[in-house]
Amino acid sequence: MTFWTDKTVMITGASSGIGKGVALEIASRGARLGLVARRQNLLDEVVEDVKGRAVAVVADVRDADAMKVAAERIRADLGPIDILIANAGIGTSSHISQLDPNHVANVISINVVGAANSVAAVVPQMVERGQGHLVAISSLAAYRGLAKSAAYCASKAAMSAYFESVRIDLRGTGVGVTIIHPGFIKTPLTAGREAHMPYLMELDDAVLKIVSAIEKGKKSIAFPWQLATVVRAGMLMPTFMYDWIAARNSFRE
Ligand SMILES: NC(=O)c1ccc[n+]([C@@H]2O[C@H](COP(=O)([O-])OP(=O)(O)OC[C@H]3O[C@@H](n4cnc5c(N)ncnc54)[C@H](OP(=O)(O)O)[C@@H]3O)[C@@H](O)[C@H]2O)c1
Repeated sequence: MTFWTDKTVMITGASSGIGKGVALEIASRGARLGLVARRQNLLDEVVEDVKGRAVAVVADVRDADAMKVAAERIRADLGPIDILIANAGIGTSSHISQLDPNHVANVISINVVGAANSVAAVVPQMVERGQGHLVAISSLAAYRGLAKSAAYCASKAAMSAYFESVRIDLRGTGVGVTIIHPGFIKTPLTAGREAHMPYLMELDDAVLKIVSAIEKGKKSIAFPWQLATVVRAGMLMPTFMYDWIAARNSFRE
């Protein structure tokens, strides 16, 4: 028996990167998986890899009704959803002089509204059962603004604040919340970037940190510790000092 044995876990963004990595890891520890993303062929490959205890559901997190249908399908096939991992997200890079408002809206609608739609699809049933866990894959980019990252930083700051508020509202219901703030991880999202990404992590190492935080019921974690320490120091800096340093350290080309 492990923490994951016979738990039903819904993971958004399970077709690639962190979502896929976490899916494969927790499946090996006994979880049943409801895998959500838009690319059916990639989801089918993950289902194939975990050998049967998983169902693939194609849905776009921006569509609240589709997310409710996806959660229903997972409940029907695998039983009540014990854990939601709200992981679907996109990364962006653009200087404010080239920032397209439609692009900003899309980042917010996937990274923030998409996560909220995922929560809405599972929380009523979790509260009714008096048990459940919500996991947000946010980012260290949530803590302060970064060069060429206005939309992404805004989306991750909103995501972290959203889940923190949800955690407060859910106190006493039996439903917990874990917010994960990773630094740079080797996934398709960071592949091909030319800018220096300090303390870039292997996917497998990041997956183990995420899985461990969920098992321990942590409220919030930030990693790798080296970059998390730098970010925390940045939060204590006076604004003029932070701006000076942040303008000289762009992680985006
Ligand atoms: N990699 C990093 O360095 C890093 C660091 C901090 C935080 N994060 C966060 O970790 C999460 C996963 O990122 P990743 O690095 O694993 O990127 P990735 O490999 O590009 O995976 C992103 C996943 O999100 C899904 N997705 C995107 N838009 C969607 C939509 N509208 N509806 C449903 N699913 C959607 C994609 O699936 P489909 O395209 O098939 O829909 C894919 O499965 C993101 O929230 C990201 O912000 C990543």
